[in-house]
Amino acid sequence: MGKPFDVIFRGATIVNHDGIGVADVAVRDGKTAAIGDLGQADARDYVAAAGLHLLPGVIDSQVHFREPGNEHKEDLESGSRAAVLGGVTAVFEMPNTNPPTTSVAALQDKLDRAAGRMHCDYAFYAGAAADNLDLLPEMERMTGCAGVKLFMGASTGSLLVAEDEGVRQVLRHGRRRIAVHSEDQERLAERQGLRRPGDVASHAEWRDAESALRCTQRLLRLVRETGRRVHVLHVTTAEEMTLLAQHKDIATVEVTPQHLTFAADDAYAARGTRVQMNPPIRGAEHRAGLWQGLAAGIVDVLGSDHAPHTAQEKGISPGSNAQYPDTPSGMPGVQTLVPVMLDHVARGQLSLSRFVDLTAHGPQRVFGMAGKGRLAVGYDADYTLVDLRAERLVTDAMMAGKCGWTPYDGMRLKGWPVGTVIRGRTVMWEGQLVAQSQGAPVRFQECL
Ligand code: DOR
Repeated sequence: MGKPFDVIFRGATIVNHDGIGVADVAVRDGKTAAIGDLGQADARDYVAAAGLHLLPGVIDSQVHFREPGNEHKEDLESGSRAAVLGGVTAVFEMPNTNPPTTSVAALQDKLDRAAGRMHCDYAFYAGAAADNLDLLPEMERMTGCAGVKLFMGASTGSLLVAEDEGVRQVLRHGRRRIAVHSEDQERLAERQGLRRPGDVASHAEWRDAESALRCTQRLLRLVRETGRRVHVLHVTTAEEMTLLAQHKDIATVEVTPQHLTFAADDAYAARGTRVQMNPPIRGAEHRAGLWQGLAAGIVDVLGSDHAPHTAQEKGISPGSNAQYPDTPSGMPGVQTLVPVMLDHVARGQLSLSRFVDLTAHGPQRVFGMAGKGRLAVGYDADYTLVDLRAERLVTDAMMAGKCGWTPYDGMRLKGWPVGTVIRGRTVMWEGQLVAQSQGAPVRFQECL
């Protein structure tokens, strides 16, 4: 008899590289140690998981947790609590905090703040700015850095590198795949007058599809010229999807659950500033283009772009009279990524295997995570257990993040997370936090 396993998850339907089937999964020392019929094996603990699906842990590779500087909207503890309650096992957090994450010291500060306070595993992006080019190669190699993030169009915060020459310089400083917010700043500046006070639907007219397409065309030209690899964040237009299909050797693609779910045709009228974000929610024809890109395999990962602002700031709390365009862009999403996308699975819009590809295998491949992102022997034992039959109403009150609202309020979704397991430790079960926060930095192959 060998040494007992630490824990065996019994009888779940597992979804991994090998397909979908019922199996037991055993963990030892934080890693998956065996998969198969383990009915005869000993363990210190057993988790009965029959009837549930056990997926590789869901990675959300785009969140904004607002610490330091805007902890009234979110902090690393509250954001990561929302993540694990939503079945997310690791997050990559964005650099547009205050101060922005544009120096070695600022990145180290985030890593120090995260230690012992985050419920899920984590990595932080380094922010590209006009004046920190020489720091980027060092920052992107720091343990716990997800890579460099570049804003080509201005959004929340001060980070912006808009001109070709500045972008070229950023691309020349560093080697890892660079993540980019692609909206053409010149066009956004020209069209600002199209915003109509009190009419959030004009947000999508101002930041139109051409603004996104033009920027992505420029970006791809500069990426070819400099030989860098790029990850285009939250792609929103059908035309960009067609364009990106011609550049799969150098470009990876993210879409968000909200751009796959909402369309300008009715979302602004129904949900107001809750669905105001950058790049905007667009018309149904673009949403259809994103789904086509997803089905065709052009899309590599899903990111929630969890970007909380308070109900007061958004003008959606009873006492607030904040009005578009004074309302900030961004919506929370880390807690709803899994159920929103499982509902799309239930409706037949994507397969469960494709969901796993987008939330685990995709991030593993795009970012080169070391020993993480697969439900396979030797990898970190990160699991998202889900009940595909559960149906529940989403409400603002369910949200664990500090802002306390969700753009999905009032929607009935089928398919919910039941358990979140991080390196073998169950941290969430049936909606409750059941372990102390023990998040650790994600490791990347290029930084080992
Ligand atoms: O809508 C957005 N909000 N888009 C971004 O790019 C940033 C984000 C935020 O940080 O609020």
